[in-house]
Amino acid sequence: MITRRKFVNRATAGAAAMAVSPYIMANGKVNLESLGFMSNPSDRTAGGKYRPPFSFGLGGAPLGGTSGLLVTDEEARLTLENAWESGLRYYDTSPWYGLGLSERRFGHLLHRKPREEYVISTKIGRILTAAPKPAKTQWAQPDSFDYKYDYSASATRRSVEDSLQRLGISSIDIVFIHDLSPDNGDMKDNWTQYFDQAAKGAMPELVKMREEGIIKGWGMGVNTLPPILKALEVSDPDVHLAACQYTLMDHEESLEKLFPAIEKSGNSIVVGSPLNNGFLAGADRYNYGPKIPEGFKEKRAKMEKIAKAHGIDLRTAALQFCAAPKQVSSVIPGARKANQPKENVESMKVKIPLDFWAEMKKEGLIAEKAPLLS
Ligand SMILES: NC(=O)c1ccc[n+]([C@@H]2O[C@H](COP(=O)([O-])OP(=O)(O)OC[C@H]3O[C@@H](n4cnc5c(N)ncnc54)[C@H](OP(=O)(O)O)[C@@H]3O)[C@@H](O)[C@H]2O)c1
Repeated sequence: MITRRKFVNRATAGAAAMAVSPYIMANGKVNLESLGFMSNPSDRTAGGKYRPPFSFGLGGAPLGGTSGLLVTDEEARLTLENAWESGLRYYDTSPWYGLGLSERRFGHLLHRKPREEYVISTKIGRILTAAPKPAKTQWAQPDSFDYKYDYSASATRRSVEDSLQRLGISSIDIVFIHDLSPDNGDMKDNWTQYFDQAAKGAMPELVKMREEGIIKGWGMGVNTLPPILKALEVSDPDVHLAACQYTLMDHEESLEKLFPAIEKSGNSIVVGSPLNNGFLAGADRYNYGPKIPEGFKEKRAKMEKIAKAHGIDLRTAALQFCAAPKQVSSVIPGARKANQPKENVESMKVKIPLDFWAEMKKEGLIAEKAPLLS
């Protein structure tokens, strides 16, 4: 567990180092200390697997127009500039987010930035093809593309190449196998058939691409647990994007099943949707489904009351909660407005009183065994 002292020391050291030389050392490597609390001690887990060296990042789904909420080009540009200026250096995107739109927006920022200064993950599993009208999806004003699922080896290579073209950069650090999961409405119970295709195609191909030095690591990018456990059984991944699986609202299953398996494998977890798609920042939507589960608004209200009594806000608590388990290598809240990345970075510097967590546990709002930043 990262202790509070280590956390704050890293932040202080980071601020001092940033004033002299921001981020890059004479040998061309990223100076992780310069990023203070937003960095991991190295880009390898104790098990020797690649993990993002930055423990806090930016999720790219909102910049594709998630939940039908439009983000203008200008707002997207400002959001990304704000993220960069705030010191965020790990970015996650996907061809799926706005049917290429999110990747193109990230590319606008990143193609002018030194490649060694940041880490980027994107995803494979859906091949985009130009179409007179965009396919019907949840995205607000996506680009004019259709998509089809393909987890074969050749589609994996093609997808990575397509992403590089959209991003306008020369390499991708992490590739996640996207939405190969029982909660995917296009798959449901058939997800295991897609999994079989990936086990024979995408997975060995990603291992090969890692050996060739084309990528540094790969894993599953999913909203449920079974595909991650299955991938650990059948292949040799490094890091997984677990979305909707470890948040203040819902974390028992990950504590019981996901983290022990991750620990055993030496892999790590990038926490996606740490705010349950904005719910823990006050939005009236929960994850990506049509409605908020019963009792969740009441539970959030109780948490908000406790947070207020301790002088903090719930979004801050939610973000720090996700960062605490040792198996978590990064937390990547999405942002839809220009001010949000900076606010989220600031949240990670807040000292949350231990009494707050004690009360949350006493009230049964979070699991007794949930690790905390102390
Ligand atoms: N299957 C997968 O691989 C998968 C699935 C889900 C997510 N992910 C990844 O995980 C990332 C994070 O998930 P997410 O973006 O869907 O959800 P999230 O991080 O839980 O929530 C993002 C939303 O929280 C709100 N928010 C963020 N910062 C805020 C602030 N400072 N103040 C107020 N509101 C704030 C914004 O809502 P408003 O829009 O209301 O402003 C924003 O759109 C994604 O972007 C994506 O990269 C991957």
